[in-house]
Amino acid sequence: MPTFDVDLLRADFPILSRIVRNGNKLIYLDNGATSQKPRSVVDAEREFYFHHNAAVHRGAHLLAEEATDAFEGAREMVATFLNAQVDEIIFTKSATESLNLVAYGFLNSSIGAQNTKSPFFVDASMNIVVSELEHHANLLPWQQLAQRTGATLRWFPVDNQGRMNLLDIDSIIDEKTAVVALTHQSNVTGAITDVDRISRRVREVGSIFVLDACQSVPHFGVDVLALDIDFLAFSGHKALGPTGVGVLWGRYELLEQMPPMLTGGSMIESATIDSAQFAAPPKKFEAGVPNMAQVVGLFAAIKYLNGVGMGAIAEHEHQLTARALEGLVSIPGLTIIGPTDLKNRGGVVSFTVEGIHPHDMGQVLDDKGIAVRTGHHCAWPLMQSMKVQATTRASFYLYNSADEIDQLIAGIIDAKKFFKV
Ligand code: ALA
Repeated sequence: MPTFDVDLLRADFPILSRIVRNGNKLIYLDNGATSQKPRSVVDAEREFYFHHNAAVHRGAHLLAEEATDAFEGAREMVATFLNAQVDEIIFTKSATESLNLVAYGFLNSSIGAQNTKSPFFVDASMNIVVSELEHHANLLPWQQLAQRTGATLRWFPVDNQGRMNLLDIDSIIDEKTAVVALTHQSNVTGAITDVDRISRRVREVGSIFVLDACQSVPHFGVDVLALDIDFLAFSGHKALGPTGVGVLWGRYELLEQMPPMLTGGSMIESATIDSAQFAAPPKKFEAGVPNMAQVVGLFAAIKYLNGVGMGAIAEHEHQLTARALEGLVSIPGLTIIGPTDLKNRGGVVSFTVEGIHPHDMGQVLDDKGIAVRTGHHCAWPLMQSMKVQATTRASFYLYNSADEIDQLIAGIIDAKKFFKV
C-alpha cells in the first residue's frame, strides 16, 4: 500500500481543485504530456526571482553568489536522485534538447572529422539503433544523424503487446553500432524496456547507450549506474518541475570527449579573437545565462518527490494501473494498445474503442472533466506498427486516486452509450 495519503497530497496542487467543464472537478490523466506542480515548486521560483535573482557563475556580488549556490545545489540534488556524479549533470531547456545535444555531439565529431577514434565518430559504414517505440524527440535527432553521416538507421520492432521486441538483438546491435538510443518506458504503451539485456549487448560490442527516461524518471527510482548506460535524458516538467528545464546525464569520461552543441559565454576556459579553450563538463555544455529559476524549481520538485518516496509513488501508480486495466478489459469493443498485464509496465494506458474515434472519446471525457491525450502521441512509427491512426491515452501520477480511475471507466462506458456502439 502507498505510504502517503493521496487526499492530503492533492492539497499541495492548487490546480487539482479546479472546476472545469459542466461544473465537473478536474480529473487530470494527461501526466505523460506534463505533470501538475505543487505549491513548493512555484514558491521556489518566486523566491528565487524576488530575493536571489542574478546571473550564475559570473558576478562577484551577494546575489550572484546566492543564485550560483542555488543552481549548483540543484545539480547536486539531481545527481543524488540519479546516483550520478555532480559534474555529470547538464541542465538543458528540455529532454528534447538533451537528446539533441548527444546526437549533435556525434554529428560534430563526425562531419569533417580528424579523429576517427573518437567514441562519437560515426560514418557510412556504421549504424545507429533506435526502436519503433520512440517518441519523435528520441527518433528525429538520430534520423538526422544517420542522414547527415550516411550511417544506417536500424530499429527494434514492437511486438503485438506494445513491447520492444529484442529477439534479433545480436544482429541489430553489432560491432558497427555507433549508438543505441531507446526509450526507458513507452509514452504510448507504457511498456518498460529491458535495459539490462540491451546494456549487456551494448557493452559486448563497445557501443554507446542513450536512454530516454522522460516517462520513467518521474515515476520510479532510476539509478544510472545500476542500469549500466552512458547517457540519460529527462524533462523537469513531467516530474512536477517547471517547463524550460531538462537534464542530460552522461558518463564523465564521455562528456569530456563530446563536443558542445552550443558555444558562447561561460563555457570556456580561455578565449582569443580566433580560438577558445572549452571548460570541463558540465560547463562546456551550458553556454549562455542558463534557466536558473527553472533549475531551482526542479530542485523543489525533486525534493517533493523524495519526500513522498519514489518507491511509494511507483507502488501507487502500479495499483492505479491495475485498477484501470481491470476496468478497461471488461469494456466490450475496447482494445488496449499495450501490455494488458502489469509486468514491466508503467502507468500509461492507451486504448481504442470500436466505433468511436479517439478525438470523440477525448471530447466526451473532457465534457466530464476528465483530461486525457488523444492522437498519435508524437510517435507516428509506433502508430503505424500497431496499425492504429490514433489512441486515447490515460497516464497517471502520484496525485491520482482510485476514484478517478473509476470515473474514467464510467466515462468510457457513457461514451459508448452516447455513440450507440
Ligand atoms: N511525449 C509527450 C507525451 O507523450 C509529449 O505526451
